[in-house]
Amino acid sequence: MSEAVVASKTPFGVEAEEGKTYFWCSCGRSGNQPFCDGSHKDTEFRPVPYKAKESGTVYFCGCKQTQNQPRCDGTHRNID
Ligand code: FES
Ligand code: FES
Repeated sequence: MSEAVVASKTPFGVEAEEGKTYFWCSCGRSGNQPFCDGSHKDTEFRPVPYKAKESGTVYFCGCKQTQNQPRCDGTHRNID
């Protein structure tokens, strides 16, 4: 199994809109972080949908190591 690329060691704060669905990049290869741009094509990774229940800032995981996809859970602090 290939590993996710660490796109960023900090989360991406995004102003999400209520009711809108976002596709978080789980592979770390997207050029449009934190969202999927199709670059996962030759990997086993797939984007993770996230539907915003309310408008506001969502911190999407940039390191791709979170245990609470697609949101940052602080795991990035353990990355060298
Ligand atoms: Fe990373 Fe699609 S580009 S999941
Ligand atoms: Fe990945 Fe925080 S950026 S857990």
